[in-house]
Amino acid sequence: MEIYLPDAAATEGLGNVLGKLARSGDVFCFTGDLGAGKTLMSRGISLALGVAEDEVTSPTFAIMNVYDGSELEVRHFDLYRLNRPEELEDIGFDEYAGGDGVTLIEWAELFAEELPEEYMQVTLLIEGAGRKAVLEPKGERYEELLQEVKQFVDFSD
Ligand SMILES: Nc1ncnc2c1ncn2[C@@H]1O[C@H](COP(=O)(O)OP(=O)(O)OP(=O)(O)O)[C@@H](O)[C@H]1O
Ligand SMILES: [Mg+2]
Repeated sequence: MEIYLPDAAATEGLGNVLGKLARSGDVFCFTGDLGAGKTLMSRGISLALGVAEDEVTSPTFAIMNVYDGSELEVRHFDLYRLNRPEELEDIGFDEYAGGDGVTLIEWAELFAEELPEEYMQVTLLIEGAGRKAVLEPKGERYEELLQEVKQFVDFSD
């Protein structure tokens, strides 16, 4: 599914929708160039899960941030600066990704072999002044989630 996001608020807004529909165990993988909106959409998801606004930051240097949502924990990864897959083990990636809580992974494609089998692939493309989001479900849970997303998103453009 493709959605045009004319401005930053639309990116955060689609994140809000995903966050409202997210359940414990869900994984979202973000792919897109520098500045495509991966962190902003992760922020939208996190805020919808009840994370405090000032907690959400880009994990580019930390590799992983952990936030307390109102009901679920949110783990926010950015794999851009990670060099070797072994480093993922050191930060406990396997236990986090797909475990209790919601997992968000920026630059997921850099470590494609380390990803869980099932997740929602979110690709962000820069298009003119805005962005295009492409949602591709990997697995049955995410097919269902996508159907729910469609009920919330306006395609009238
Ligand atoms: N739909 C949109 N239209 C216009 N600008 C947008 C849109 N979505 C996000 N932006 C802007 O793009 C910029 C970069 O966003 P963000 O930091 O989320 O990117 P990123 O993909 O996480 O980048 P990086 O790979 O460097 O971490 C921000 O200034 C944000 O406001
Ligand atoms: Mg980012």
